Amino acid sequence: SWTTDSIVEDQVAAIREQVGSKRVVCGLSGGVDSAVAAALVQRAVGDQLTCVFVDHGLLRKDEARQVEEDFVAATGVSLKVVDAKERFLSALAGVTDPETKRKTIGREFIRVFEQAAAEVVAEGDAAGEPVEFLVQGTLYPDIVESGGGAGTATIKSHHNVGGLPEDLQFALVEPLRTLFKDEVRKVGLELGLPEEIVWRQPFPGPGLGIRIIGEVTEDRLAILREADAIAREELTLAGLDRDIWQCPVVLLADVRSVGVQGDGRTYGHPVVLRPVTSEDAMTADWARVPYDVLARISTRITNEVREINRVTLDVTSKPPGTIEWE
Ligand code: XMP
Repeated sequence: SWTTDSIVEDQVAAIREQVGSKRVVCGLSGGVDSAVAAALVQRAVGDQLTCVFVDHGLLRKDEARQVEEDFVAATGVSLKVVDAKERFLSALAGVTDPETKRKTIGREFIRVFEQAAAEVVAEGDAAGEPVEFLVQGTLYPDIVESGGGAGTATIKSHHNVGGLPEDLQFALVEPLRTLFKDEVRKVGLELGLPEEIVWRQPFPGPGLGIRIIGEVTEDRLAILREADAIAREELTLAGLDRDIWQCPVVLLADVRSVGVQGDGRTYGHPVVLRPVTSEDAMTADWARVPYDVLARISTRITNEVREINRVTLDVTSKPPGTIEWE
């Protein structure tokens, strides 16, 4: 059986062997997988690595800052940030179908990432060694669920941020492809990443874009970001972070219901809390979050986020539900 030590040692050796003295580029998503993959490659080949962070505007509150400041401080990695918020919003205008949304976000991501990678390549040429390798934080379950195994059906099109453009001339470095999430976290700790990053709950590449049911707009993103931040804060304060696999907060943006607040009638949107427990995201159960924690989340969201007047709880396991709503 593998110890975390030996996983790190083996991967560092394998990465060095694979990339030699060439330069490597890695897309950071804000999530734990790409962070750990990048940190492993940084450990293996140091400043041969350049990370690219495409800020698509679909991240949760404070996540962009954590990548730009905390991750860089922890690893010393060289980071290129691309602000693509406007571009993603325009591309998503009018899009409501879940798969179209995923494909749109994936396509825009690839275009922006490709351009950034091309710039890194150009800088690489000046330094002598071209970029030839692309790091991906693909885990074992991603491969299984995206239909990587022969004969397996694709359940949802997964776009891992940092996803491989089909016509890009990079070889893949996938140091996490045999690992499950708990092992990835251990590796992250072993590499000295802050607990805040290591224990971050999984977050999909398409981000809040697939947690707004309906069209994605800047206003709706702002509403969801606030509600999500409250839910995360209360779950953390309750000490539930490590029991719960993740808790998507989903905005039913095209639904309104009548409510009452103060002296007035409200006509706002519902959010759905989707706390789940899971080992590997392939199956999941709805988490039995204590009622008092749910009550605090509900009270705070309806008090602090004006546009939301109802908080509901998703009590569906996977299967038949998936973890995300889109
Ligand atoms: P589902 O909704 O398929 O989600 O039960 C399973 C796990 O995968 C995450 N997820 C994604 N991760 N790109 C990602 O990197 C994606 O497109 C994507 N879609 C879902 C989801 O958050 C859950 O942890």
